[in-house]
Amino acid sequence: MSKSTTSGVVSSEEQVAQFVTVRGTRVPRLGIGTFGMRGAGATVGVRHAIEVGYRHVDTAAMYANEAEVGRGIRESGVARDALWITTKVWHDSLDAAGVLRSAEASLSNLGTDYLDLLLVHWPSRTVPVEESLDAMLKLVEDGRVRQIGVSNFTPKLLRAAVNHAPIFCNQVEYHPLLAQNELAELAERHKILLTAYSPIAQGRVFKDQTLKRIGKRHGKNPAQVAIRWLIQQPFVAAIPRSNQADHRASNFAVWDFALSDQEMEEIAALDRGLRLVSPAFAPWADRR
Ligand SMILES: NC(=O)c1ccc[n+]([C@@H]2O[C@H](COP(=O)([O-])OP(=O)(O)OC[C@H]3O[C@@H](n4cnc5c(N)ncnc54)[C@H](OP(=O)(O)O)[C@@H]3O)[C@@H](O)[C@H]2O)c1
Repeated sequence: MSKSTTSGVVSSEEQVAQFVTVRGTRVPRLGIGTFGMRGAGATVGVRHAIEVGYRHVDTAAMYANEAEVGRGIRESGVARDALWITTKVWHDSLDAAGVLRSAEASLSNLGTDYLDLLLVHWPSRTVPVEESLDAMLKLVEDGRVRQIGVSNFTPKLLRAAVNHAPIFCNQVEYHPLLAQNELAELAERHKILLTAYSPIAQGRVFKDQTLKRIGKRHGKNPAQVAIRWLIQQPFVAAIPRSNQADHRASNFAVWDFALSDQEMEEIAALDRGLRLVSPAFAPWADRR
């Protein structure tokens, strides 16, 4: 296999590896996260990420950066149908009217005719998930949204959602220091994309000796090993975020090496239940 470059030039073999196919739909395995990217920095960052080779962009109504992210996408000059755009509805807008309003605002802010994926950002404690999903299905019917999904859903909540609607994705915190075995099994069983957010544990992977050692063997840093570990799993995508161009490029340079089965297991054993994103309204806070 030829080497990836930071300019996004990759071999055709690498291009195949860069996608996961979920129920016939191809999704770029590695996306650029945009939480906390604001103003001109969001535009420059997203444009640069696409130049480097990312074809998947993750944003949310709550990030208040969709207009800047959309500008970055357009400035990249890459065709809309070559990109995967995910956005999310905040948990205070999950009634039927709120979902429609939020999605239309996202479409308008992003400057696009359709969203590849619209997610429930966090489960609501007041609106039944069926109501939110039905509104999202209406958006699919109208051609405004291609796929619908959820984020931060526990196995129990995910089962309820799957029983009601064709859930394409569950986006959750997932990295070598936080296992998601049950959600990964559910993703495989139901053919659901499991998108890993905070994939490098917000930088904490750099301190891990095992990831350092394995990385050294492959000429890679711990973030690259963590990202590779995630996207080498079936149905898993990852969305690292960085405000720095060299970090965005290095996080994408993960196509020219592979972890052995033994290395995959060694990394899986690093789990220590380190959950970094846990707001008061998280579903696990009240054991749902
Ligand atoms: N659905 C949800 O509820 C949810 C929740 C959290 C996040 N997300 C999504 O997931 C994305 C990523 O998660 P995240 O931002 O929490 O965590 P992350 O991607 O694991 O880590 C981001 C942090 O790591 C640093 N970093 C990135 N690449 C690096 C590198 N190569 N070397 C050294 N440091 C590096 C960044 O700093 P620099 O900027 O200095 O590089 C930043 O501080 C978010 O942007 C968002 O799109 C979704």
